Amino acid sequence: SARSITVIPGDGIGPDIVDATLKVLDKAGCNFTYEFADAGLAALEKHGELVPASTLELIEKNRVTLKGPLTTPIGEGFTSINVSLRKRFNLYANVRPVLSLKGTQARYDNVDIITIRENTEGMYSGAGQRVTDDGSTAEAMSIITREGAERICEFAYQLARKEGRKKVTAVHKANIMKSTSGLFLKVAREVGERYPDIESEEMIVDATCMKLVMDPSQFDVIVTTNLFGDILSDLCAGLVGGLGLAPGANIGTDAAIFEAVHGSAPDIAGQDLANPTALILGAVQMLEYLGMSDKAARIRDAVRDTIAAGENVTRDLGGNAGTKAFTDAILARL
Ligand code: NAI
Ligand code: MG
Repeated sequence: SARSITVIPGDGIGPDIVDATLKVLDKAGCNFTYEFADAGLAALEKHGELVPASTLELIEKNRVTLKGPLTTPIGEGFTSINVSLRKRFNLYANVRPVLSLKGTQARYDNVDIITIRENTEGMYSGAGQRVTDDGSTAEAMSIITREGAERICEFAYQLARKEGRKKVTAVHKANIMKSTSGLFLKVAREVGERYPDIESEEMIVDATCMKLVMDPSQFDVIVTTNLFGDILSDLCAGLVGGLGLAPGANIGTDAAIFEAVHGSAPDIAGQDLANPTALILGAVQMLEYLGMSDKAARIRDAVRDTIAAGENVTRDLGGNAGTKAFTDAILARL
């Protein structure tokens, strides 16, 4: 029987790029059943909540979710939806692949990097946040656990092995942050020893930034703590032409959510201008997660060839096509 996945159309350009992505999945013969759920502004208007209980139930039930971008309303009392979902479903691994595509205005044509960011602890643990009464001193705690470090490093090596990759680089700042980054590095070394088939490398975060900009082709899989991963993954997206092309997955013990890295782009919503590539590549990650690698590869190739041909691409890629025409060009190649 057809596998069910939860689909959150989201806000702004979300419904358009989700629609495009589902057409691509169907055309590739994925045979999913989609169960739709509201979140974000769309949910606030209908249910009075950013993430209704019915949506959480559906995410839990199907375990695999494809999610359009959500608008977090500005103002008191609204915590980031992504942060709540991350906590609720223990989504400890943020997986952000970047791949050079011909036909984009990117700086490089030889980038193929997966950044794996620990998503729950480190500098973003939220623990110990305090500003003294006189406002003169602010504090926050960075927490690294052996369990958290081991879980994310194991995830990185397993993914490297599954995808036939050669090297995992553990990025740290253990020379200065001796306790926290030190523990992360120690655990990364231990985990690396369990994978003799994969090359292990370690690199200090500032040097990593420089090397990424000078020659990104030397990187393969990067695994790192929360703050460093947040920054490095955006840097990597910049190397291949920006947010319109960058997908991301949040993978945990209780669920996995696949999305585009960009937001709801209210400035171009409802105008058939959005580039659906990032979310389509998010769906490709989802297929790989589900063990459907052949379909994943077919879709990735169709996207790559459409962008390389350059005729039917969206405005952000230098073309004149709308979301629908661009999607049709991808469908034609499938
Ligand atoms: P944004 O990523 O939505 O837009 C930034 C710029 O990139 C805009 O000029 C936009 O038109 C363009 N852009 C983004 N995606 C595009 C695409 N697929 N095709 C063509 N152009 C694209 O960031 P912004 O404006 O800061 O945030 C808008 C809303 O999105 C906010 O409410 C924010 O909270 C939310 N957001 C949600 C995220 C999520 O759900 N994962 C992630 C980031 C922001
Ligand atoms: Mg970020």
